[in-house]
Amino acid sequence: MDFLVNSSSVDTLKTSLLVVTVNEQLQLDSQGQLIDTACAGALSAHLKSGDIQGKLGQSLLLHNLPSLAAQRVLLVGTGKDEPLSDRNARKLVSALLSIFKNIAIKDATLAFTDLTLKERDAYGSARLISECLIDGLYVFDQFKSEKAPVVQLAEITFSCSAEQQPAVEKGSKEGQAIAQGMAFARDLGNMPPNICHPRYLAKQAQHLAKGNKKLDVEVLEEKELKELGAGALLAVAQGSDQPPRMIIMNYQGAKKSAQPYVLVGKGITFDSGGISLKPGAGMDEMKYDMGGAASVLGTMKTLLELDLPINVIGVLTCAENMPSGGATRPGDIVTTMSGQTVEILNTDAEGRLVLCDALTYVKRFKPQAVVNVATLTGACIVALGSNTSGLMGNNPELVSSLLSAGKQASDVAWELPLFDDYQEQLDSPFADIANIGGPKAGTITAGCFLSRFTKDYPWAHLDIAGTAWISGGKDKGATGRPVPLLSQYLLDRVQ
Ligand code: BES
Ligand code: MN
Ligand code: ZN
Repeated sequence: MDFLVNSSSVDTLKTSLLVVTVNEQLQLDSQGQLIDTACAGALSAHLKSGDIQGKLGQSLLLHNLPSLAAQRVLLVGTGKDEPLSDRNARKLVSALLSIFKNIAIKDATLAFTDLTLKERDAYGSARLISECLIDGLYVFDQFKSEKAPVVQLAEITFSCSAEQQPAVEKGSKEGQAIAQGMAFARDLGNMPPNICHPRYLAKQAQHLAKGNKKLDVEVLEEKELKELGAGALLAVAQGSDQPPRMIIMNYQGAKKSAQPYVLVGKGITFDSGGISLKPGAGMDEMKYDMGGAASVLGTMKTLLELDLPINVIGVLTCAENMPSGGATRPGDIVTTMSGQTVEILNTDAEGRLVLCDALTYVKRFKPQAVVNVATLTGACIVALGSNTSGLMGNNPELVSSLLSAGKQASDVAWELPLFDDYQEQLDSPFADIANIGGPKAGTITAGCFLSRFTKDYPWAHLDIAGTAWISGGKDKGATGRPVPLLSQYLLDRVQ
């Protein structure tokens, strides 16, 4: 999909479909009024006839309006006369997409840059709308004999004023880059776990780096992981026939001396629970347990697309969690890369184990900040549901940057406390730390576990168990979150 921005007068634009908004008071915006005047009041005549009430997402397709260069006009409702929330803007876009998918047009023009979204300027609105348009066209039909119908629409033009043009151009460019990162993350998440294993993720990272001088990829295999003392990561992988990988993606967009931002993603390509086996129902969805790694890869793709002048290191810590005669047992004690010992009381609390070694490893980069991303706890879904990621950290400034990045990117997170009181839930009689903290505050005690390995740098942890994919039902699939939040965080780091 190509996006264009055009600031010539909207009534003169040649287009297959011109989209104009109308609210519940049946008012057109300034662009709509211009079009109405150009076609001698044909739009207001339709409005008067009661063909459309302006309810959010309601639409009316009109052909052959007099004296317009546009072949068709689509009136679409925006609901009450007030700035649209992100949620309602998404509904509007999805109504548009259901029409775009069903008519054979190659191009469309959106004549609604006057449309105000709550707390968003022309840049922010164009960005959210272009991101949602591309994301809404995503399909994953690689393994279907019958493919989804091809959407013919290939070009969308934002019509706006000359003053708005630079902001709309920037917004649509960044929205597209974010949507591309999301699509990459969604593809990886949706990929079946017999194909998407740790070595597959390593290949994907290497493929992304191919032909890009700014991105370097290093893949650590078992032998190197042993030498590094990554006892926790190796313990998780030891029950599986799939070997673990630690994948380091080094993006250098600024001078070498600039301290990097580090993103660490949990990459469990299938989480059966191990010997602490999960129940059978819905276990297929544990292929999404590499959603953290997928979002780091997706964000790296967005970063390359935007060519940001900062240094970023993405680390994917990858293994498959399986039961077998060689698998880790409850009660096993392992030594982590940090030297701290862990009593593995539940082999299903494996995410923190693969993460802790990666979090120790990244110290060597002297990071400005480290953000890890993980589908870490079912408890996070209980606490925050499926729209809000959990956020914890040891640095209030970093936490607040991430919260505001999430808000700006319409990919929200909410902070949970890491008060010291919770730490003692991780006491073990036999090792330095237990890998579970009991039934209370499961998301927080998982965060506490990670905090034991992140004392040397500003650190935050995003628990995306609820947000990385849509569970069950016909909409089941990876969401590409939190690529928007992470991308925004990095965009905000550019001075
Ligand atoms: N990957 C899961 C967390 C998860 C569960 C994410 C369901 C999304 C949906 C993680 O590895 C896990 O199994 N966590 C356990 C931790 C417990 C054993 C302390 C959990 O949440 O039950
Ligand atoms: Mn698990
Ligand atoms: Zn897991």
